[in-house]
Amino acid sequence: MPSSQPVVFAQGLEKRFGETRALRGLDLALEQGQILGVLGPNGAGKTTAVRILTTLALPDAGTAQVAGFDVVQHPQEVRLRIGVTGQYAAVDELLTGRENLEMIGQLARLSKSDAATRATELLERLDLVDAADRVSKGYSGGMRRRLDLAASLMARPPIIFLDEPTTGLDPRSRMQMWELIEDLVHSGASILLTTQYLEEADRLADDIVIIDHGLAIARGTADELKEQAGGQRLEVVLTHPEHLERASTIVQGFGEGEVQLDPRRSRLMTPVSATDGLLAQVVLALDGEGIAVTDLGVRKPTLDDVFLQLTGRELSLEESTETDVVDVKELSTV
Ligand SMILES: Nc1ncnc2c1ncn2[C@@H]1O[C@H](COP(=O)(O)OP(=O)(O)OP(=O)(O)O)[C@@H](O)[C@H]1O
Ligand SMILES: [Mg+2]
Repeated sequence: MPSSQPVVFAQGLEKRFGETRALRGLDLALEQGQILGVLGPNGAGKTTAVRILTTLALPDAGTAQVAGFDVVQHPQEVRLRIGVTGQYAAVDELLTGRENLEMIGQLARLSKSDAATRATELLERLDLVDAADRVSKGYSGGMRRRLDLAASLMARPPIIFLDEPTTGLDPRSRMQMWELIEDLVHSGASILLTTQYLEEADRLADDIVIIDHGLAIARGTADELKEQAGGQRLEVVLTHPEHLERASTIVQGFGEGEVQLDPRRSRLMTPVSATDGLLAQVVLALDGEGIAVTDLGVRKPTLDDVFLQLTGRELSLEESTETDVVDVKELSTV
């Protein structure tokens, strides 16, 4: 396949569940060797899109190709080339981690010995060696996620779909998952990743599609999206809040738009373009009026600002209530 052709390409995807329009004409494209982050709040349509792209559900309208094959016309060709990790880890609880992987390997037509070798390799890579020979029933949430991911990697798929791979993981497990995802891309995979976490999309994704109510409402690199939210701005934090009004008049002269005041933090913000020597000039001008500064800098908006601006809502940053409650040690007697 020519590298210019996206490995996942969807156009106008629609899906209804009764009255609910889960997808309302979604377009997206994942380029070879990249990570596409599909970012959206609960119910935005992320899982529905992944299910259609991975041939687990049919679209009501629109088309999608994966590895050049139409997902509706040639689902078996698509399945041979993808790995899928669902939002809810699906592992056989009565089997050990290793048995789960070997079974998946054999389903994927690896020979028995290839499946065993690959399973060992992935158990090591996913930090599951110690738990490999325990039944997975007692795995923590994070361990299940990793086992589920290992299962999807058994057949070395070139295209990987990860549906909220870190939801509910503790910070350490999340960091490990991020490193693993980066490794996968370095070794040549292309990844479509859904997430509710802005910092996850920001760190991992080459391209981001923000979806809300089944539609893409913005797309681009993290930097492009932040640019859309107003580009860079000067932020000045004053030592004495009573100086805010006077400082505002001075800062106005350096900005390219209105000065916003944030009295709670003694802070002023204004959009700026040229930044050469700007900070020194601002400090000098304020100092000349006897106004002391605690902190100042030129900052880019975050993806939070982008989402807020586009939807008027904050993308929920609540941690999932799903946590790692099962202690593996409880199972050492099993
Ligand atoms: N099988 C189904 N039956 C009925 N409604 C469904 C079904 N699957 C999804 N929906 C609805 O479609 C919409 C999109 O759901 P989807 O699961 O795709 O969202 P999501 O972005 O994955 O959300 P989350 O972040 O919570 O996983 C929601 O309103 C959901 O309730
Ligand atoms: Mg989902």
